[in-house]
Amino acid sequence: MNKKVVYQVYLPSFKDENGDGLGDFKGVESKLEYIKSLGAEYVWISPFFKSPMKDNGYDVEDFYEVNPSYGTKQDLKSLVDKAEKVGLKMMIDFVFNHSSDKHVWFTKALEGDEKYKTYYHFLNKSELTEKSLQIKSVFETPIFNKVKDEYYFGAFSTYQPDLNWSNKDLRNELKEIVKYWIDFGFKGIRLDVFNVIDKDKTKLLEMGNVWDIAEGKNVNKYWKEVLEYATQNDVYIVAEANAPAKNSLAYTIPVEGSVNSIFTFDHMDWRIYKDDKITLNSLFEKIFIKMSEVNNNGGDLAIALDNHDNPRIINSLIDKTGASRVSAALLLNTLNIINTSSSYIYQGNEFGLMNPNFTSRNQLRDIASLNSSSDEKSTIVYSRDNARSPMPWDHTKNKGFSNANSIWLDNPYKENLEENLSKEILQATRKLINIKSQIQADAKINILQNNELIIYEITSKENSIITVINAQNKEATYNNNYKVIFETNATKNIEAFGVKIYSK
Ligand code: GLC
Repeated sequence: MNKKVVYQVYLPSFKDENGDGLGDFKGVESKLEYIKSLGAEYVWISPFFKSPMKDNGYDVEDFYEVNPSYGTKQDLKSLVDKAEKVGLKMMIDFVFNHSSDKHVWFTKALEGDEKYKTYYHFLNKSELTEKSLQIKSVFETPIFNKVKDEYYFGAFSTYQPDLNWSNKDLRNELKEIVKYWIDFGFKGIRLDVFNVIDKDKTKLLEMGNVWDIAEGKNVNKYWKEVLEYATQNDVYIVAEANAPAKNSLAYTIPVEGSVNSIFTFDHMDWRIYKDDKITLNSLFEKIFIKMSEVNNNGGDLAIALDNHDNPRIINSLIDKTGASRVSAALLLNTLNIINTSSSYIYQGNEFGLMNPNFTSRNQLRDIASLNSSSDEKSTIVYSRDNARSPMPWDHTKNKGFSNANSIWLDNPYKENLEENLSKEILQATRKLINIKSQIQADAKINILQNNELIIYEITSKENSIITVINAQNKEATYNNNYKVIFETNATKNIEAFGVKIYSK
């Protein structure tokens, strides 16, 4: 399989067509040509299933129904069909680690139905220590939640009880769901929190913090079983591992692995350090060393510098290095695209979108921010809503996102919208994606240098591409005889925070 370029759409914030202030299927449909024009092959849309929206759809009440706020099932079908017509493949986001507490499986379990109780993790008080009862979930609710004289386990929140994957009946239900949506027309799958699904009782009882549940020994085996239909139908599958994934290679190598790509977030902490010594070089090192280890051996450690779960990285890069917005965007897009991984472009990356300027906690809507025990300033700085703020498309009402009188989440982007929509970053990004399309599936990546200049080479039987990034705030000289195929500035030298790409 060739390495992919996937465009990530965060559905609530992408484009509102029906005027209710929330993004929808028709909104995405209206932008398919635009996404195609970037050079992407897949469009991943965030979960659209019926949901109480405690975690914006990552709490699924019914895996077969769509959330009516996004449109009807026919609207979704029309989106999938139109995507195919313009040459794009739609990617569905499966949230199978947990369900909503409003899912009928869980409500039946609460009524005492023994079959459905075994779909979840219920524990007796006598099994739990005081220490376990203190452990917090990712969104800062208790991880063990009391109902009558028992406790159920919710790694993310009280509203998202974890499913018990050791139960074969549950896995069969998930298999059916996969089949249903592949038959519906989806050609790609993104798996939410892939590597935390397999946890036995001992793990739950002995854990010190929530991520101790990651990397259970059956992760690969269970997914292979549940995804069999997708694999048989040549569906591209990417796994999200927001818990450390030691087995990235094993998960993604052809045949033995259960998925095609995996993205991990080891580099995400780069953005939160206040330490001035943290540089572009350290970001590069964090991502590219592991990438070369996994990808040069046949796996695919995919790259996602941004997503809906983190403030945008461009702000950190500008703060840490003093690079201009255009340079920062192009440096990041180069790292994100020119490599041997599948690349994920999060909505707005293509034109260097920065975080909006929230000024008050009251503007935030994300469960993580609402439950955050931090002070107002850091809650705002680290809020996932920074990346979720509705897309600014143009100068019209609500910056072209919606013509509603109020929108579900503010979009107070401060930077000059002219600049925001400037074609400079957009056109350069298209060029980068075009260069990526020439990188062969079997290409190997080799890091040549990581100091003032970051230099790496991508070689395959047919060609060799050398990328040179000037990681410092002054011009640098660099010479070779190869053909320049991309440059941020057509000078002989390499401008401060500039990029040149050569082909042999
Ligand atoms: C993943 C999603 C995130 C969600 C969490 C729980 O990390 O990307 O948005 O809150 O899983 O489903």
